[in-house]
Amino acid sequence: MTPQRHHPVVPDLSGVPETMLWTLFQRASEAARPDPVLEDPWAMELCRRLDYPFVARFGPAYGLLAQSIALRAAAFDGVVRAFLREFPYGTVVALGEGLETAFWRVDNGRVQWLTVDLPEPLRVRETLLPAEGRRRVLACDARDPRWTGAVPPARPTLVTAQGLLMYLRPQEVRDLIALCACSFPGGGLVFDAVPRWFAAGTRRGRLRTPSGYPAPEMPWGMNADQRARLREADPRVAEVHAIPLPPGRGLVWGTLAPRLAARGPLSNRRPTVTLLRFTSR
Ligand SMILES: C[S@@+](CC[C@H](N)C(=O)[O-])C[C@H]1O[C@@H](n2cnc3c(N)ncnc32)[C@H](O)[C@@H]1O
Repeated sequence: MTPQRHHPVVPDLSGVPETMLWTLFQRASEAARPDPVLEDPWAMELCRRLDYPFVARFGPAYGLLAQSIALRAAAFDGVVRAFLREFPYGTVVALGEGLETAFWRVDNGRVQWLTVDLPEPLRVRETLLPAEGRRRVLACDARDPRWTGAVPPARPTLVTAQGLLMYLRPQEVRDLIALCACSFPGGGLVFDAVPRWFAAGTRRGRLRTPSGYPAPEMPWGMNADQRARLREADPRVAEVHAIPLPPGRGLVWGTLAPRLAARGPLSNRRPTVTLLRFTSR
């Protein structure tokens, strides 16, 4: 795909779907730096094409936050690339994909890619990034098991849920893990989680950007030491892997964050990325 001249797209989103513009804005801001931790030219292009008051709504993107969102995306990319090395003809299902442009970062020329999101945000994505070839889309709630019917059968499948599960209820998270384990034998699910204190803060309405934009309520949070309990969601969860963020730039993301993630009181109370692998039958 090559950038062309297009009319600006005006997204009319609120609540959780609007958060896809926030993560896009952060990745694009990081990508615009001369020394980004994640190359993402499509994120910058999409921001240019959207007629949306990013700065007025979210406040200016600041380096540490933008870098953290880009590092999270880079951690997901690493899991997807490893999956595609193992299964070059595999399928990736991106739940709640919003305006993520991971496909263009990790495409190996053979992967089948299915985007699943709610109808309104998906309309915005389709206007900007119409499905074609190996990229398909489905308007479906991730909690509705019917999306599994759109996944090509008999291909290894990796499900990604980046920036999604915190917006589900705890039982819905367990049900989704069980659904994936039962539907994709030998496959996996990679997702991120916010720590419990952070999720609780959103529920009290305490977390706002400097511009006053409130983070939507997050019913589900998980501390790092609760990972092992994810196995309880389904007996077909065979492996639980902690996925570290790649080392970033500067004192915070380059030096302190990797150390704090490894040990100390904050190691348990930070955002995490986790990969679950499922038994093959
Ligand atoms: C924080 S954004 C993350 C977007 C993208 N994954 C990223 O990391 O930039 C949350 C996304 O989840 C989608 N979403 C929220 N609830 C959903 C649900 N129940 N089923 C499917 N998608 C959902 C929203 O529409 C939005 O695109």
